Amino acid sequence: MINLRGICKQYYMGAVEINALDYIDLSIERGEFITIMGPSGSGKSTLLNILGVLDQPTDGTYLLEDVDITNLSDRELARIRNRHFGFIFQSYNLFPELNALENVMVPLAYARRPKSERIKRAKELLDLVAMSHRLKHFPNQLSGGEQQRVAIARALANQPTLLLADEPTGNLASDQSEEIMQLLCELNQQGTTIVIVTHDPHISSFGKRLVRLQDGKIISDAPITHQEQAQRRSGV
Ligand SMILES: Nc1ncnc2c1ncn2[C@@H]1O[C@H](COP(=O)(O)OP(=O)(O)OP(=O)(O)O)[C@@H](O)[C@H]1O
Ligand SMILES: [Mg+2]
Repeated sequence: MINLRGICKQYYMGAVEINALDYIDLSIERGEFITIMGPSGSGKSTLLNILGVLDQPTDGTYLLEDVDITNLSDRELARIRNRHFGFIFQSYNLFPELNALENVMVPLAYARRPKSERIKRAKELLDLVAMSHRLKHFPNQLSGGEQQRVAIARALANQPTLLLADEPTGNLASDQSEEIMQLLCELNQQGTTIVIVTHDPHISSFGKRLVRLQDGKIISDAPITHQEQAQRRSGV
């Protein structure tokens, strides 16, 4: 589905060059559940943003379904983003002046669906994340876990090929994190491809493949065995 080859991202701070990503090769197949881990500053968010076409690499090739998207216009990239990717962030990023239902309807409006269909679909999505009882609540009237569930519903609105999450449980209490991870597991079982960035070994145990970054490089990339999952979950 996605093929990154030799992806680099450099930043310049005055004369200092920062290699946030340093020749990354990464392939993602449909149905995968990948966790990205690594120390702070190792390039995790940069990689996720490039994967989701929120940011462009300074070098390398990005193939999406065998199409090289590295040189497309901003407009074409925005269309690809809206059609293929769903994003979940640490700080939910809900619109404070919109209620839960309206928040989930936003991406559907970008996709130019009629209003009645937008409402119907947004209600279905909120039902999926067990938030049907809070349709009219504004973000500041919801708990952190509830806000994150609304954010997940919104990310799923246009049936993304790939769901990208940057520390999605970073602001949540552990029972709420567990709930969000269970939800992501269910979505993965139903076929959604997921890439999630986390600091937390417990959270990473929900994935099926673990990619470790250090200094902008992939230092390991391996499947997570059932045994490892069980060990991490029990904190060994
Ligand atoms: N806009 C920018 N300008 C300059 N340097 C940047 C910029 N964005 C990121 N960097 C640098 O690139 C490196 C990778 O940053 P990135 O945000 O990807 O790290 P991260 O692994 O997500 O860290 P964290 O776990 O703290 O979120 C860091 O050294 C950071 O300082
Ligand atoms: Mg980050």
